[in-house]
Amino acid sequence: MQKALKSQDIQLESWAPFAQGKNNLFNNELLKALSGKYNKSIAQVVLRWLIQKGVVVIPKSENMKRISENFNVFDFELSADDMATIKSLDKGIGLIYSV
Ligand SMILES: NC(=O)c1ccc[n+]([C@@H]2O[C@H](COP(=O)([O-])OP(=O)(O)OC[C@H]3O[C@@H](n4cnc5c(N)ncnc54)[C@H](OP(=O)(O)O)[C@@H]3O)[C@@H](O)[C@H]2O)c1
Repeated sequence: MQKALKSQDIQLESWAPFAQGKNNLFNNELLKALSGKYNKSIAQVVLRWLIQKGVVVIPKSENMKRISENFNVFDFELSADDMATIKSLDKGIGLIYSV
């Protein structure tokens, strides 16, 4: 979808970058390991992955500390290997909508 949108100059946006916490995202073992490696929270790793993929992120939090945490994602970079590893979590099924 991202390729198709890009060809039409349309920016892909993620309006639920944490999939609303579905699928136990904040306890995922792979993301937990990367969180330790980069000394960033799982939420920050997720946001960084999307940003590095060129996706605009619109995370929601009702908690001031987490809102601030969600902005603090511009001082580290995921390696190409780690980007590819995170992609392996894609099951090809949307957790909120599926097209
Ligand atoms: N999803 C959609 O289809 C859709 C459609 C239209 C508009 N939107 C808008 O898009 C925005 C995002 O949507 P969303 O709420 O559906 O999904 P989301 O951002 O993927 O998930 C929000 C959930 O993640 C938690 N969270 C946020 N930051 C966190 C952090 N750093 N660590 C741990 N947990 C964290 C929030 O809990 P806390 O609040 O307790 O931190 C909340 O339970 C909202 O402004 C929403 O109104 C979404």
